[in-house]
Amino acid sequence: MPALPPPTLILRHCGMLLTMAGDRLVDARGPLGIIADGVVVCHGAIISFVGPDAAYAGLACAPGDAPPLEIDLRDRVVMPGLVDPHTHLIFAGERADEYHARLAGATYAEIAARGGGIVATVRATRAAADASLLALARDRLRTMARYGTTTVEAKTGYGLTPEAEDRLLALAAALAAEPDLPQIIPTFLGAHAIPPEFRDDRAAYVALLRTEMLPRFTGRARFCDVFCESGYFTPEESRAILSTARDLGYRLKVHANQMGASGGAAIAAELGATSADHLDYADDHDLERLAAAGVVATLLPGCSLMSNLPYPDARRYLRHGLRVALATNLNPGTSYTENPQLILALAIAQMGMPIADALLAMTRHAAAALALDDRGVLAPGARADLSIWSIRDYQEIGYHFGTNLVEQVIIGGRAPAYEDRSRLARDSHHRNADRSV
Ligand code: NIG
Repeated sequence: MPALPPPTLILRHCGMLLTMAGDRLVDARGPLGIIADGVVVCHGAIISFVGPDAAYAGLACAPGDAPPLEIDLRDRVVMPGLVDPHTHLIFAGERADEYHARLAGATYAEIAARGGGIVATVRATRAAADASLLALARDRLRTMARYGTTTVEAKTGYGLTPEAEDRLLALAAALAAEPDLPQIIPTFLGAHAIPPEFRDDRAAYVALLRTEMLPRFTGRARFCDVFCESGYFTPEESRAILSTARDLGYRLKVHANQMGASGGAAIAAELGATSADHLDYADDHDLERLAAAGVVATLLPGCSLMSNLPYPDARRYLRHGLRVALATNLNPGTSYTENPQLILALAIAQMGMPIADALLAMTRHAAAALALDDRGVLAPGARADLSIWSIRDYQEIGYHFGTNLVEQVIIGGRAPAYEDRSRLARDSHHRNADRSV
């Protein structure tokens, strides 16, 4: 670990500290790594110590160092900040009419055929000014942080021209540079739909993606994703786009088997994708292949809720030994929510997911779905991203539903300045202001 600056924040007497760093096989405490009366010491954006408060000997501050901010968190659950590994963060326009039409019986495909669905959001997003897209996305990120999220994957895919996709990546980078927001991990999803201008020449759009957009966005998006589904991108097109992306150095994600047996899961396994997402229609053979290839299965129960469709049975995915992640899939069509606690509640109540697996799915395994090993756990060297819950026992999560149980997040060692629900935020805000950071 590199030399650390002086300690800046110490969370003391955490009533129930969930490190998420336990090992199910060797650790009697289970995968949640629970410590009663725990302490977390942060040096700037990095954690340097996690353990029982009794083992914490106090910190020798060098003369002249500002003393760290110490917060007493008895009667609170403290765990890593939540990681949301699948969102369509940056968009304009809403599609409430479609939602109600779908509940009344229209299908996603029928709505798309009459000019609604993804391309409706593409029209609204293309027409929106940078400032409004930024304001909308910033508000969403702040809401996510209020509900416990400290890292957010953000897909493009509502531009679908080189310039419009470039703009979405630039806006994602601008948000990533703003202080106190959840960290953004950008994904290029130019293969989200065939744009209307290419309806009669889809091969030309696939070529544009492969020869112009992917080379242009190398290094600006960590992942390339493809919506491999009937009516969107065929398995052959998906394989071609993803192979080009892989050759250019992108990591891969696949929207796979969301509405049918699309072949996307097999492609994710074949190409060694970091995650395959949705997977509602993945069969046992698909899951075996994904597990063997080490692909994370990201499940998105917000879609089942909004489409009134059966929920995936989480136990089937877990039985195959897959690392299962959960995400909000924030988007205006199939899952319009910023709230990870709602997703946890759905996974626990509707998908048969044991609570420990659900919490792993939004921390450690969600970080794995983004190929990040510096978060999703509380351990020395990890990012100081934490969520502080106003509950005494983690088992209240999902049980006490429909209300926000998160009191505060810490992002990169700081309490966001826009959040003023707790004493920690106020103290930390003043301290940060004093230090002019
Ligand atoms: O993950 N499936 C593709 N993309 C989104 C839906 C986007 C939209 O309807 O605007 C999803 O469900």
